Amino acid sequence: MNDKKWKTSIAGIVDGEVIIHGYKVTDLIDKVNFTEAIWLELKGELPTEKERAMLDAILISTIDNGLGPPSMTNARNSASAGNPMQAAVAAGILGVGDFHGGAIEGCAKLLQMGLTADKLVEKVISSGDRIAGFGHKVYEVDPRATQIFAKSRELGFFGEHCNLATEVERVLEEKKGKKIPINVDGAIAAVISDMGFDYRLGKGFFLIGRVVGLVAHIFEEMVREKPYRRISSEEIEYDGEPVRKLDKAK
Ligand SMILES: CC(C)(COP(=O)(O)OP(=O)(O)OC[C@H]1O[C@@H](n2cnc3c(N)ncnc32)[C@H](O)[C@@H]1OP(=O)(O)O)[C@@H](O)C(=O)NCCC(=O)NCCS
Repeated sequence: MNDKKWKTSIAGIVDGEVIIHGYKVTDLIDKVNFTEAIWLELKGELPTEKERAMLDAILISTIDNGLGPPSMTNARNSASAGNPMQAAVAAGILGVGDFHGGAIEGCAKLLQMGLTADKLVEKVISSGDRIAGFGHKVYEVDPRATQIFAKSRELGFFGEHCNLATEVERVLEEKKGKKIPINVDGAIAAVISDMGFDYRLGKGFFLIGRVVGLVAHIFEEMVREKPYRRISSEEIEYDGEPVRKLDKAK
């Protein structure tokens, strides 16, 4: 029994029943909601009502922010090319990166280092990097971040990491001479850190929520749009070499 190569403490089949962290899946189906089941998978125990509500808020904030960001354009482009649901979802997930959705991990890692706000900002800026979880293409203040922090205060999860993130925003403004607001990724990073999650789970929260939006958008692309959508030629410019003669013997 002990020398099996593949081991997991998360889930298995015992006496013909799927169990997740010791609970029969049939009992979970009967008694818990989806967010409670997600918490159980990630943490190994069922959440309190406040933990459930906080995780709900985090996941809802990641579901969708329109067609603009790379995860969504990747997914819809892939569906438009004629790929099936699973391929288009995979394409959408590959649109998540350090600058979109993926910043939760980087930000939580920084916040969990035990640095002061001054040291944290200095460390990142002096290496020429950007501080994950701060700044936004569209928002001057990211309303999703504001709401996540409001919810975390209401539910009692606004702790040392949320305070540190707020302080980082202030120090960053001082250093750069302009407001670079905490964004939704940064707020989630701070709250999950205060809830005791390892920073390496950071991207996972975005992915779990965003798959909902991807599936909806891919389905809409399939049923509403003609296949093979192209970027309009007004938005495309070729600025390479002008047409030139190919001077090469056959
Ligand atoms: C999201 C992001 C790409 C938006 O960029 P942007 O609004 O186009 O910002 P710009 O590229 O115009 O940068 C403006 C200035 O702010 C600085 N800046 C922007 N975000 C910064 C950050 N997170 N940390 C430090 N400096 C930052 C830039 O270095 C630049 O400074 P400069 O004028 O001295 O060169 C950018 O803020 C970023 O990379 N953030 C970190 C990644 C992240 O959190 N992504 C999740 C987004 S929801």
